[in-house]
Amino acid sequence: MSRNDREFRIWRGEGGEGGFVSYRVEVNEGEVVLDLVHRLQATQAPDLAVRWNCKAGKCGSCSAEVNGRPRLLCMTRMSVLPPDEPVVLTPLRAFPSVRDLVTDVTFNYAKAREVAAFVPPAGLAPGEYRMRQEDVARSQEFRKCIECFLCQDTCHAVRDHEENKAAFAGPRFLMRVAELDMHPLDAADSTGLDRRASAQDSHGLGYCNITKCCTEVCPEHIKITDNALIPLKERVADRKYDPLVWLGSKIGRR
Ligand code: SF4
Ligand code: F3S
Ligand code: FES
Repeated sequence: MSRNDREFRIWRGEGGEGGFVSYRVEVNEGEVVLDLVHRLQATQAPDLAVRWNCKAGKCGSCSAEVNGRPRLLCMTRMSVLPPDEPVVLTPLRAFPSVRDLVTDVTFNYAKAREVAAFVPPAGLAPGEYRMRQEDVARSQEFRKCIECFLCQDTCHAVRDHEENKAAFAGPRFLMRVAELDMHPLDAADSTGLDRRASAQDSHGLGYCNITKCCTEVCPEHIKITDNALIPLKERVADRKYDPLVWLGSKIGRR
């Protein structure tokens, strides 16, 4: 055995049934956790299931938990992990286990489908409107999202409360609602959709209590809480306490 061997404790199993299996594997300078998973597959555990694609932090496939923290396996350098402790690899805790490190992230795609698409304004010809730079920058930040779902996995409102899943879209998709609500050209209201009301009533914005764990784990360093969730909460509150909206709701109920 090389002096640079490290112990890995990897959750192995299927459909939620299983346990930890220990391996020792050689680690070389500069390697990331996914390198070690690949070495294990090549040498000791050919049937170890892991999802990955780009190995460049851009496809969002290799999400798992390293020592209990949601991370991209391909972007986690071995050198950032405590050198004297085993490296513990587990699947994302908030989603059903498929096999070994692979989880079923269908929940996220279902939530994505619940967010109504951008509605272009009627009668606006291409090139007729010039976006302000700050509006462009806001959308660009949110669109750096690689859909790794680490934020969805870490948010306690999902992670610790399976029962919330039906009502709560999670930070990634509330960020999408925020992006659309703040888009200067979105004309969803012309279709009868009130994005702010839907953020609260359909996507569960109230479940977020601004713990910012989502922002901490985002590999794209998107300021999910400060730039999307808090502004969306402010916009929902503005709408709720707008005297005209209040009056309209009273008249509408008569
Ligand atoms: Fe991943 Fe960040 Fe997108 Fe969440 S917002 S899915 S953590 S890239
Ligand atoms: Fe969850 Fe992020 Fe809010 S972690 S509670 S969505 S700030
Ligand atoms: Fe693509 Fe890790 S393999 S993000």
